[in-house]
Amino acid sequence: MAEAGKVAALALKALSDAAKPGVSLLDLEALALEVLAAHGAKPSLLNYHPGFSQTAYQFGTCLSVNDEVIHGTPRKKLLREGDVLGLDLVASIDGWHADSAKTVGVGEVSNRALKLMRITEESMWHGIEQSRAGNTMGDIGHAIQRHVEKNGFSILKNMVGHGVGTAVHEPGLDVLNTGRPKSGIRLEVGMTFAVEPMVTAGRGDMKHRKDDPWAVVTKDGSLGAHFEHTVGVTEDGPRVLTLLPAS
Ligand code: MF3
Ligand code: CO
Repeated sequence: MAEAGKVAALALKALSDAAKPGVSLLDLEALALEVLAAHGAKPSLLNYHPGFSQTAYQFGTCLSVNDEVIHGTPRKKLLREGDVLGLDLVASIDGWHADSAKTVGVGEVSNRALKLMRITEESMWHGIEQSRAGNTMGDIGHAIQRHVEKNGFSILKNMVGHGVGTAVHEPGLDVLNTGRPKSGIRLEVGMTFAVEPMVTAGRGDMKHRKDDPWAVVTKDGSLGAHFEHTVGVTEDGPRVLTLLPAS
């Protein structure tokens, strides 16, 4: 998983470097597939059929623009100055998956967008910090929720992180973005899961667009941000499996 995670990180880095005004979402999708292949990893999401959908997913990445918080699909759309772009992908090597996401600004973005991205990323790290044997999923959720709400933003409702391993979504291991300390599933050494706060600048309600079964958008049209790392619980504490290789 750590090997797949390095490649996922390289692909995300390539996408964030390439995300400039005038570049299309399909260009980014192609770039991601290229980077994954160049490093011997497979795009886990391509033809992946998650339980929550009627159909299989047709791309290797999820690219979510502005009010799309997660699961936006690559399309011809050109990026514009000021867009807030979520990049999400899963890489696999030898059947082991690693899932990671980040949100970046295209060109110059508003201060509010910058703050939303910063707080969302920080909340992910607060959640990761709690990913220790003996703690609970409630500890992770509480740490994320507290940081987000203290800063005036909202957790996207009804969405959680998940176990990751030989499946992209391992059942039975919801990773909460809200919660009470010391409640819920107890964490054990060897668990591997995605910590992935999904945050909105407005209220936290979500909807789908009529013509798009995939993208999860904010109901009030506010901006969304999403950061995600796959983490393993070790005897020495949390190990982030989706970091860039030390160069
Ligand atoms: N990183 C995404 C997630 O954890 C991957 C799912 S994309 C979809 O939800 F194909 F399932 F939509
Ligand atoms: Co995920």
